[in-house]
Order: sequence, then C-alpha cells, then structure tokens
Amino acid sequence: MIPTTVPTLTGPLVLLRAWEDADAALVASVASDPIIPTITSVPGSGAPEDIALYLHRQRRRALDGTGLSFVITDIRSKQAIGSIGLWTRDYDRGRLSIGYWVAAQYRRQGHAQDALATLTRWAVGLPGVGRLQLFVEPWNEGSWRIAENCGFMREGLLRQWQQVGDQRRDMWVYSLIPDPDDLP
Ligand SMILES: CC(C)(COP(=O)(O)OP(=O)(O)OC[C@H]1O[C@@H](n2cnc3c(N)ncnc32)[C@H](O)[C@@H]1OP(=O)(O)O)[C@@H](O)C(=O)NCCC(=O)NCCS
Repeated sequence: MIPTTVPTLTGPLVLLRAWEDADAALVASVASDPIIPTITSVPGSGAPEDIALYLHRQRRRALDGTGLSFVITDIRSKQAIGSIGLWTRDYDRGRLSIGYWVAAQYRRQGHAQDALATLTRWAVGLPGVGRLQLFVEPWNEGSWRIAENCGFMREGLLRQWQQVGDQRRDMWVYSLIPDPDDLP
C-alpha cells in the first residue's frame, strides 16, 4: 500500500518531506519560471490564493490516492528548493510515475539527482511495484541526464504525448525496473 501520509526520506544532499504553509515562498519564487508552471500545476499567476490552493492540493494527494508530493530541501540548510512527486494513479497496475523540479537559483548542485535517487530507492520497496517511469522532453538534457544517472532507461519517443502550455509535445519515456542491477 502507498502510505496516506508523506514520509520523510533522506539522501546525502536532500531531505524530502511533506508540504508546509511556509513553502508558499518557494512556490511563489517559481511562478515565473519558463518551464515549471507549464509542466506542473504550480500557478503561473503567483497569486497568494492560487498558491494556497496549490499547497492544499499537494497535501490532499496522499489521501485521495493520486500520489505523494514531496518538497525537496537541502539536507544541511533545510532550505526548500524544489519538489518531487510520486504519482500513483496506476499503482493497482504496478506502475508509478515520477516528476520533479528545482528552483533556478538552486540548480546544478546535484539536488534533483539525489532527490530522484532517494525517492526511487524508497519507491521500489513498495509492494507490487513492477515499474517506475518518467517522461522528459528531448531538449531537457538536465532532466534526462538525472534519470539516466539514477538508472532509468530510455525506451522510446512518445509522439505528441503531452500538452505543454498551448502545444502538444513529444516526450522520451524512461523506466526503471525494481531489479538490483538498475537501482541508483
Ligand atoms: C531539470 C532540473 C530538475 C535539474 O535540477 P538540478 O538540481 O539542477 O539537477 P542536478 O544538479 O541534480 O543535475 C544532475 C545532473 O544533470 C546535469 N544537468 C543538470 N542540468 C543540466 C542542464 N541544464 N544541461 C545539461 N546537464 C544538466 C548535471 O550536470 C548533472 O549531471 P552529471 O552528474 O552527469 O554532471 C531543473 O533544471 C529544473 O527544475 N528544470 C525545470 C523543470 C523541469 O524541467 N523538470 C523536469 C521535467 S521532466
């Protein structure tokens, strides 16, 4: 079973935890990011009421069975720097999906990679998981490098897979099978 509360997970660089009210500042800081509001439900408006609704939705996900939404924090400073989600809609079919983002000022320090490795190691231990997957646009080298560094394998190009902003976009699909040889 997927827990109905978000666990706290730690890696060498990150601590992953549930969303708190104080994380509104992090969400506000990425509202004008060129990518994040287009591929997530982060509100591009940056309005406080929209951010409050965003936080509410993240906290609800564990209860409504759609996933576990974590804040990525720096293990030493405890600063909230991004988010990683484990999406569980297809858990009854043994499939889990992962998505992540890090605010621009905290990038290129290994946090996203450690967050993915940490979440992956935990998620493969959930009963009945046959496959973890994630979807990355081909231009997004940072994202697919992280996936590959964590043992995910590129399987193919899904043409026009997803609406991003006002366009449909192709996506690489990556997977990791819970096998000791694949694990980060
Ligand atoms: C993609 C993203 C999560 C990367 O976060 P990050 O914390 O900077 O990533 P890391 O520091 O953990 O990077 C780990 C690896 O990726 C590489 N990398 C990161 N960003 C990169 C970039 N823009 N171009 C090329 N390589 C990049 C790093 O060099 C490192 O690889 P290496 O160890 O082989 O050198 C971040 O840029 C982001 O949030 N982008 C906007 C949202 C997004 O695209 N999310 C993913 C959607 S699928």
